[in-house]
Amino acid sequence: MLTEVTATRYITPLRSGGSVPGVFEADDLGTYVVKFTGSAQGRKALVAEVIVGELARALGLRFPELVLVDFDPAVADGEPHQEVRELHAASAGINLGMDYLPGARDFTPEVAQDFSVDPVEAGRVVWLDALTVNVDRTVHSSNLVVWPTLGVAPPRLWLIDHGAALVFHHRWEGSDPGKAYDFRHHALGQYGPDVRAADAELAPKVTEELLRSITAEVPDDWLADDPHFATPDEVREAYVAYLYARVRSSAVWLPTDFPGADQLAEENARRAARTRRGRPDWLKSVPDLHGKPAAAQDWSVHLGRSEP
Ligand SMILES: Nc1ncnc2c1ncn2[C@@H]1O[C@H](COP(=O)(O)OP(=O)(O)O)[C@@H](O)[C@H]1O
Ligand SMILES: [Mg+2]
Repeated sequence: MLTEVTATRYITPLRSGGSVPGVFEADDLGTYVVKFTGSAQGRKALVAEVIVGELARALGLRFPELVLVDFDPAVADGEPHQEVRELHAASAGINLGMDYLPGARDFTPEVAQDFSVDPVEAGRVVWLDALTVNVDRTVHSSNLVVWPTLGVAPPRLWLIDHGAALVFHHRWEGSDPGKAYDFRHHALGQYGPDVRAADAELAPKVTEELLRSITAEVPDDWLADDPHFATPDEVREAYVAYLYARVRSSAVWLPTDFPGADQLAEENARRAARTRRGRPDWLKSVPDLHGKPAAAQDWSVHLGRSEP
C-alpha cells in the first residue's frame, strides 16, 4: 500500500504545469509535490498518476516515490491567490504526494541540448507511454525532469506527471486496447528509441497479477464516481483488462515511426509556413506561440543546432 502522511507545512505552489500542485512538508519530514483531488483534471488524473507511475517503477524506470497525503486546507492558509485557495478548499482529505526532487530541472529543449539519452532508455519510456496511452510527454511538455543537478551524482532522467495517461478511462465505452496513437512528437523521439527491445524486455513483466497489485493501490474514493461501474473493484478490473489486452497486442500499437532530427525541423518549417500563409498580411510577422513559451516552438534549439 502507498504510505499515508499528513501535510504539516505549505512551501509553495508549482505553477509551471496546468494543475497547480503544491509543495508541502509532511509529518514524516518528507517534502512532497501534492496533486489535488479538487483540481480541474479531477480524480481520474490521480488514478492515472498512481497506476502509470507504479507500473513505471515496477518496470524499473526512475519515478519518485508516491504517498497519500492527508491534507487540511488550514495548513495552507497563507496562500494569497484566490484560485489556489479554492483548489485547496475543494481538496480536504486524501490527495496524492510525489517525493519532491530538490533542484530538479524540467527536461526542456534547452536541457535536451546537453543531455544524452540512450536509445534503450528512450525506448522503455516511449513503450510505457504507448502502452498507457500517455499523451502528455511531448517535445512541448515533456513531463520528464533531470535530477540530481548539483554534481553530487550523475544527472538522470526521471518520469513525473502521468495525469494525462490512460485517456481511455474518459470514455470506457468503445475503448479499443489495440488502438495506435500518434507518438511522433514524443519528448524522446529524437534519441532513436528502441521500442522493439523495450517490448521484448518489458511486455512479459506486465502480468495480470502485477496490474492487480498496482490498481489495488488506488484509493476507493477516487474510483467511486464512474457511472459505468457499480464498485471500485469493478473499475480496477476494467483497468487490468484493458492494459493486459493492450500489452498483448503490442504489435499493433508499437510506435516505430520516429522522424529524424532533419525531418522534424522540415516538418516544423512547413507547418510554420502554412500557418503564415493562412494569415492576413498584418498578422504574418506575429510569432506563432499558441500559448507556449517561445523556446518550445523553436525546434532548432530542441534539435541541438544553432540554425534552423
Ligand atoms: N517530484 C518532483 N520534484 C521536483 N519538481 C517537480 C516534481 N514534480 C513536479 N515538479 C515540477 O512541477 C511542475 C509541474 O508538475 P506536474 O506534475 O507536471 O504537474 P501538472 O499536472 O501541473 O503538469 C513540473 O514541470 C516540475 O517542474
Ligand atoms: Mg506536467
